[in-house]
Amino acid sequence: MTQLQTSESQGALHFAYWVPNVSGGLVVSTIEQRTHWGLDYNVRLAQAAERAGFDYALSQIRFTAGYGAEHQHESVSFSQALLHATTRLKVLAAILPGPWSPAVVAKQLATIDHISNGRIAINVVSGWFKGEFTAIGEPWLEHDERYRRSEEFIRALKGIWTQDSFTMRGDFYRFHNYTLSPKPVQQPHPEIFQGGSSRAARDMASRVSDWYFTNGNTPENLKAQIDDIRAKARENGHRVRIGVNAFVIARDTEEEAQQVLADIIKHAHVEAVHAFGDAVKQAGQASPEGQGNWATSTFEDLVQYNDGFRTNLIGTPAQIAERIIALKAVGVDLVLTGFLHFIEEVEYFGTKVLPLVRELEAAAATRQSRALEAA
Ligand SMILES: Cc1cc2nc3c(=O)[nH]c(=O)nc-3n(C[C@H](O)[C@H](O)[C@H](O)COP(=O)(O)O)c2cc1C
Repeated sequence: MTQLQTSESQGALHFAYWVPNVSGGLVVSTIEQRTHWGLDYNVRLAQAAERAGFDYALSQIRFTAGYGAEHQHESVSFSQALLHATTRLKVLAAILPGPWSPAVVAKQLATIDHISNGRIAINVVSGWFKGEFTAIGEPWLEHDERYRRSEEFIRALKGIWTQDSFTMRGDFYRFHNYTLSPKPVQQPHPEIFQGGSSRAARDMASRVSDWYFTNGNTPENLKAQIDDIRAKARENGHRVRIGVNAFVIARDTEEEAQQVLADIIKHAHVEAVHAFGDAVKQAGQASPEGQGNWATSTFEDLVQYNDGFRTNLIGTPAQIAERIIALKAVGVDLVLTGFLHFIEEVEYFGTKVLPLVRELEAAAATRQSRALEAA
């Protein structure tokens, strides 16, 4: 068996990018970033990403400023605008249970699914930013309660999207004989992603989510997480695919790429990085096992919101393509990318890195079929 057969759900790798619908880009640094949180820039970016071969765009939900994100466009409406400007890209709207009810989301996304010919998806996020919840008068549940609510939220969405006369009596949500019409175009329903790495997040993924998104990490650490989730999912008769965050710095030489990383960290907004680190570590420590997405993040890691430097997609196109294949070998199905200068780097990635990844995937597939023939 070759390395590439280790995952139970391997096809061609998928690629997503973070939609910069929140100001300040994806690094907490005062370094120049040629990006913008507004619509015009994001439309051009979505079109460039689609041409470059990206499959998904992940929009973000933030209600308030904090740690360098002064302006934030709302996720569902922004996703819709990007869908209007593209033809193939799938766009993920991020939703926080609490501010949103599953009834509203199910209805809203079913309509967007029709308008976009089946290209909307959802990222259910469970919350890490207590100050944001307090600011909008939303109760802040303790860590595992947030995930218990998110799981019920996802079960409600699936029920509404797939059944007529849907009835549910949960601890957080209740439905009585409810029939949504029209149902979404995508069958059985739009894809459901989730973010988070704590025990509660993993357990939820192994029961209800189609996709599990995790923070950046090394292949070894990712393998431990993925094996754990997949083993549990198998016990539950559930299939979950895995996406990992990576901040990509692809340059013609390794020295240039490493210099960009050093410059990002040199210009880190120290106060904002510490404040962000305190908030997210507090969120993770609040889980019973005292862990979570950012449990072991260093100062340097926290300069990128979701530990994207740790995945180490920093170097030449050839180095990055090989490292992406190493991620696939431990079971990753999707690489979620972030960039310093979004449009130009998405284009570079599409021209220089993606073709190498596809070549390596094709070579591995050929080796695999030869080995099968010989067996
Ligand atoms: C890829 C990814 C995207 C996320 N997007 C958002 C977002 O848009 N808004 C938000 O409030 N939280 C977002 N989160 C945060 C998670 O939903 C979760 O609250 C956080 O990762 C802490 O999870 P944990 O307690 O399981 O470690 C995202 C997380 C990941 C991994």
